[in-house]
Amino acid sequence: MRDAPGEAERREWQELADRIEQARTRYYVKDAPTLSDAEYDELFARLVALEQRFPQLQTGDSPTQTVGGVNSEMFDPVRHPARMLSLDNVFDLDELQAWAARIERDLKALPPLLCEVKIDGLAVDLVYRDGRLESLATRGDGVTGEDVTGNARFVSAIPDRLRPEPGGPTIPQLLEVRGEVYFPVDQFNALNNEMLALGRSPFANPRNAGAGTLRQRVDRRQAELSRARAAGSTAERIARLEADLRRAVGSLGRLRLIVHGIGVADGFSPLTQSAAYAGFASWGLPTGSHYRVCRDLSEVEQYVAEFDRERHSLEFDIDGVVVKVDELALQDRLGSTSRAPRWAIAFKYPPEVVRTRLLDIRVSVGRTGRVTPYAVMESVRVSGTKVDRATLHNAGEVKRKGLLIGDIVFLRKAGEIIPEVIGPVVEERTGPEREFVMPTHCPSCGTELAPEHADDADIRCPNARRCPAQLVERLLHVGSRGAMDVEGLGIKAAQALLDDGIVRDEGDVFSLRAEELARSEFFTRKVASADSGVAAETRVLNETTVRLLDQTDRARERPLWRVLVALSIRHVGPTAARALAGRFASMEGICRASVGELSDIAGVGPVIAVAVVEWCGVDWHRSVVERWAQAGVRMSEDRPEGPGTLAGLTVVVTGTLPGYTRDSAKEALIGQGAKVAGSVSRRTDFVFAGDNPGSKLDRASELGVSVLGPDGFAVLLESGPEAARELVR
Ligand code: IVH
Repeated sequence: MRDAPGEAERREWQELADRIEQARTRYYVKDAPTLSDAEYDELFARLVALEQRFPQLQTGDSPTQTVGGVNSEMFDPVRHPARMLSLDNVFDLDELQAWAARIERDLKALPPLLCEVKIDGLAVDLVYRDGRLESLATRGDGVTGEDVTGNARFVSAIPDRLRPEPGGPTIPQLLEVRGEVYFPVDQFNALNNEMLALGRSPFANPRNAGAGTLRQRVDRRQAELSRARAAGSTAERIARLEADLRRAVGSLGRLRLIVHGIGVADGFSPLTQSAAYAGFASWGLPTGSHYRVCRDLSEVEQYVAEFDRERHSLEFDIDGVVVKVDELALQDRLGSTSRAPRWAIAFKYPPEVVRTRLLDIRVSVGRTGRVTPYAVMESVRVSGTKVDRATLHNAGEVKRKGLLIGDIVFLRKAGEIIPEVIGPVVEERTGPEREFVMPTHCPSCGTELAPEHADDADIRCPNARRCPAQLVERLLHVGSRGAMDVEGLGIKAAQALLDDGIVRDEGDVFSLRAEELARSEFFTRKVASADSGVAAETRVLNETTVRLLDQTDRARERPLWRVLVALSIRHVGPTAARALAGRFASMEGICRASVGELSDIAGVGPVIAVAVVEWCGVDWHRSVVERWAQAGVRMSEDRPEGPGTLAGLTVVVTGTLPGYTRDSAKEALIGQGAKVAGSVSRRTDFVFAGDNPGSKLDRASELGVSVLGPDGFAVLLESGPEAARELVR
């Protein structure tokens, strides 16, 4: 026998149920959630588990028994011909397998499964009578939804009339289909920019934007405009009402629809869900283009993995995959609970928006002295990685987002993109939250901070030469891949070089000496030596340090433009650096040039020109250049006479390249006058393919473009295109 729930369990049940109901109201009625989807799912899972342990707790109106979604008073209620259900979720492959095992047990075999993407949109119910749209409704509580039919004619993705295809299935007299209304991601971004421009708060995600858009009272706006016109209102008021109406209609026009469910369909009896989609499509209803019927679970898992990778290149936001038993007779046999069908399951991807607590706002000092606030948060998992920091860019951004230290915040990390604090959950404030105050003094060296120019949004630490934070960042930058590319000059090594007094600043990086490094614990390892028979311990350079020395040796040969990038001259990135190096071919020439001469160069311009002249005017900057030059760093370039040997050629570089980094291969090509392109076309002369070259190689052979390996590449560089072609012939 099961235990009876005690007072504590009853209280926990009530609390969970209340929180879920509250969250549903915020989500469905206000289109402005206070919980992330992942948190909602977690509360829900806790309630399900509690009710499994104590079935006595489960009431008929428990959130686990209802689909969620409540109706606002804004629209008339409309009853769906058939109930609209929700979906049960699984969060990993084990749970998915358990679901499939249940199906297999009930049906004695695992039937074909239809996989499709789970669009993060707004569920709608569409009823067509005699092929004409009769009603469009939101899901509501599953039985009754909100009647938004009046808006349907502005949504061009929703056909007003269905048309049968010759030879195709006939359109049932009464047809009820379900689908997802959504905002394409790019349209969503455009809409949010418009909202910001109007001084309104942007939508948190495409789903809210979709819901907010579909649930606008366009009819009331039209009526108000007519009344205003009839009453002879001011031109200003009429113009405002017109603009408002235009905006509402315009945003409705951007909505899209994908149909993914069957409600009632008299006289249309496809055998499978996929066949039903084919029928819908033949009548002009938009169906998804990503669905696939899978024969076994491994194919389903493959689908799940595929769309996890693809999710950011789709035109809509997805939060998972829906797996459905394809055969409709089997769906009937499996049936539904009061909340969700047993024949379908949603596989949810790891959340991309989570909630966490903002513990503190601190500032960091960058390579150019810029002081940047960043958020320190309770560590959370988002998009598969743990996150506890996010940049806040500047003090203005902290204000704009209205963040207080101690707030609960929404945090986003989409795919590979860096984490971003979206904003606070204002409703959750309890009082002790406090405002962030930008420090007045550098947290690293104590120097007073100031904006560099009156109109500068950023504040900086002016102690560029000696501020420890700036020094370590500049050292790191010298070694970075975009600059001198010194492997082994990472954050720890940079810090140790400074802490142990091996370098004073970046000017000493290319004159590192083994004897000095040998005195530092960081750069050495212990070895037992048995000189003259006496056991002793000495320290020798460790392997990483030997490589670091070797790497700094090689780095001296880098082209002048990389030296320029490495010097941390404000605003001088690779493009400007290439332009400067190309025009003057020497550090001396660059520092002798006037603002006018510099800003005439394509890719430089006045801001960079001023930055360069100012930089060259600082004594210790010149000392860095001198020390680098003395250490053998290249400070001038022999300009190639006339066009290079590869002038006029277009080359594509692909795959991992033995003996080259991708950048060094490109540089070598550009240095000889070739153009390096990103994709293979008929105009491509050569493809330099390394290991795992991918689709570019296929494309090259399709088009008959010459493909070079490392040997061929060397021939191309040394002897030109004719010799290289000879080789591939
Ligand atoms: S089928 C009876 N298929 O997800 C099954 N739903 O979390 C009903 N959704 O309310 C849903 N894409 O709004 C289905 N391909 C898809 C879907 C999908 C998104 C939404 C739908 C549903 C919610 C459940």
